[in-house]
Amino acid sequence: MTSEEKFKKVISHAKEYGFVFQSSEIYDGLSAVYDYGQNGTELKNNIKNYWWKAIVQLNENIVGLDSSILMHPTVWKASGHIDAFNDPLIDNKDSKKRYRADILIEDYISKIETKIQKEIFKAEKKFGNQFDRDQFLNTNSRVIQYQSKIKSIHSDFSKALENEDLISLKKIIEDLEIACPISGSKNWTEIKQFNLMFGTKLGASSESAMDLYLRPETAQGIFVNFLNVQKTSRLKIPFGIAQIGKAFRNEIVARQFIFRMREFEQMEMQFFIKPGTQKDWYNKWKEDRMKWHLSLGLGQENYRFHDHEKLAHYADAACDIEFNFPFGFKELEGIHSRTDFDLSNHEKFSSKKLKYFDSQKNESFIPYVLETSIGVDRMFLAVFSNSLCNEKLENGSSRIVLKLPAILAPCKVAILPLLKKDGLPEIAKNLLEKLKTEYSVSYDEKDAIGRRYRRQDALGTPYCITIDHQSKEDSTYTLRERDSMSQERLSEDEILKKIESKLSIKSWM
Ligand code: GAP
Repeated sequence: MTSEEKFKKVISHAKEYGFVFQSSEIYDGLSAVYDYGQNGTELKNNIKNYWWKAIVQLNENIVGLDSSILMHPTVWKASGHIDAFNDPLIDNKDSKKRYRADILIEDYISKIETKIQKEIFKAEKKFGNQFDRDQFLNTNSRVIQYQSKIKSIHSDFSKALENEDLISLKKIIEDLEIACPISGSKNWTEIKQFNLMFGTKLGASSESAMDLYLRPETAQGIFVNFLNVQKTSRLKIPFGIAQIGKAFRNEIVARQFIFRMREFEQMEMQFFIKPGTQKDWYNKWKEDRMKWHLSLGLGQENYRFHDHEKLAHYADAACDIEFNFPFGFKELEGIHSRTDFDLSNHEKFSSKKLKYFDSQKNESFIPYVLETSIGVDRMFLAVFSNSLCNEKLENGSSRIVLKLPAILAPCKVAILPLLKKDGLPEIAKNLLEKLKTEYSVSYDEKDAIGRRYRRQDALGTPYCITIDHQSKEDSTYTLRERDSMSQERLSEDEILKKIESKLSIKSWM
């Protein structure tokens, strides 16, 4: 299956099983805006919970916040978003399609990277156990050529981005003969900067209305509340403030399903530190965040760090944690050393003191900030696409299974009476009552048991408990495990203990 076909399967499975729907679908949808269905909502909530536990609950010096989406417009002047939150946009004159110039170039580079991967794959197959990856990368002439091409594009590309040199950026597109993916045409307009913020108005009459923006990041709500939280919590530096909430961006390129949305959710944490210590904290948070990702077991090979070539207007160091999505490695989370840019500017624009007072040293200063920022929806896509498999079984048949990390699964346990009679539903419902206060549990008595198992596999339910006639005799049930499909006859107590140990947060973090 090509990666494109795999991605299509991910999108259709998400719809078919109630995870993600196109927004306003009955009106033909709204581009890059999505709704989460009954199972998607649970999965999304579990992702947010897993993040919140790791960031807030397990760190005594990090607290939460829930700030508003609408903020005073000067916030966005001070943060630099009005002047600098732009993407370089280019139109194709023939297809009339609009693109981000930087993404056209990044996609071109990704294609060369894919060619390198193909060469590695071929060589691995040819040489088997003898294959030495490093040696191959350093000696294969075709791979060396590809790598040097990537290096040269990177160097021109980052220079053009750093200098905001739109003419050079266009020249790279022309020199590489990048064509419109829709029409194949190379007939491009000049590149323009495009501000990504959505505007709206506050107030009833047009004369008195005030221009506002829907927040493009949740971070600014944390900055403007920094002293409110610090003073009321009496936290001392270093400390963090975390927030989960909606953000809005008028993205030029709206494709790749929930990867790039116009309305999305972020999980952000601003960590306030002493100036001069930012390098150490940057490394510490890089390590911590990678550990969090790896704890979910999606495979170490699917993650990599990518240092930013062009630093955002607020950062002195920044990197992404990239994930191997069905369309290749792309940004999943950003880790940014934001200096004192935001707090200093808010102090300047608001004329209010935003300094932290160090009572031991009897001195005041504006803290530096280390930020971790991850999109909930991107995390959803990473987990969901990585988990979906079509598995060949020993008997020659196949099954679709969503091997979600059990801790994130929308439904943890499905309770299935073998028959709809003989008192089996009563025993099953009794068990349901006991489990539902602790876990999200579902009950299913329709269809043959094999079909019910398949349905739960496709939803990602890690455990099924089947109640049969023997259960009436000795109060034992069959516990079926999703990934191994193993079935074990256990007492109620044994089942509860087993599930508890597998779903306890301690066994994950
Ligand atoms: N406060 C810093 C900030 O917003 P960012 O790199 O622009 O940094 C952080 O965004 C994260 O938010 C990204 O790593 C990504 O996971 C998510 N994100 C950004 N734009 C998005 C979009 N249009 N759709 C979905 N997620 C997005």
